[in-house]
Amino acid sequence: ARPAKRNAITVAMYEALTAALHAAITDEAVRAVVFLGADGVFTAGNDLKDFMANPPTGEDSAVFRLLQALVDCPKPLVAGVDGPAVGIGTTMLLHCDLVVASDRARFQMPFVKLGLVPEGASSVLLPARVGLQRASEWLLLGEPFSAQDAHAAGLVNAVVAPAEVDARAMAYAAALADRPPEAVRLAKSLLRDPQRQMVHEALAREGAIFIERLQAPEAHAAFMTFFTRK
Ligand code: COA
Repeated sequence: ARPAKRNAITVAMYEALTAALHAAITDEAVRAVVFLGADGVFTAGNDLKDFMANPPTGEDSAVFRLLQALVDCPKPLVAGVDGPAVGIGTTMLLHCDLVVASDRARFQMPFVKLGLVPEGASSVLLPARVGLQRASEWLLLGEPFSAQDAHAAGLVNAVVAPAEVDARAMAYAAALADRPPEAVRLAKSLLRDPQRQMVHEALAREGAIFIERLQAPEAHAAFMTFFTRK
């Protein structure tokens, strides 16, 4: 929760998220993990100032370690999205098993607008999930889209009123926790394993280009445009 910056994620926040995820995986009492935003915002995505000050340099960088932890998490992941879900705020949902969005949620993957490229294995998972044509629109044009569009495309399970998002996400988690845990683990593994190698290869392919692009004049110009827009 970092409402003043719309929950934009810094390196320290990636590290905290990854540590929390690892703790949840090893704690036998934890049956599901829930991601929620704060103050009517899921997340504005990567903190762009932090991107310039502390850019990721390789696969062991904080953002990639979180993505790898999401991909390999054996326990069910649930997300409750209210308000903007930008960049990794949308791509991380591809690794969540159940997603509820509010009717005012706004999804956006503005990587290309920022001079960057898709991350989070979205270049392979998004076309598989929503079809190549829609994935091309969302990733190449990078315009925001609504919860209704995300629902129709199969990116979210349910759309509810903003006040109901947290409760619905927690209800999903409670229902998962109510199921026999070993069966849940095996079922999730059967659902995700066939794509796992492809997803890791996509993370590596995207990550190498993403790191290069962060130094590109196109990206620096786009970042400056954002910070001087007011
Ligand atoms: N990185 C760093 N700072 C960010 C940020 C980000 N990704 N997103 C928002 N902020 C900061 C703004 O600079 C602003 O800071 P200031 O008050 O010091 O000027 C503050 O958060 C509020 O942002 P603002 O744009 O005024 O809020 P909004 O409610 O009108 O819009 C968003 C919210 C999320 C739609 C909009 O901030 C946005 O599009 N952010 C950029 C998202 C982005 O490109 N992410 C990177 C994806 S790779």
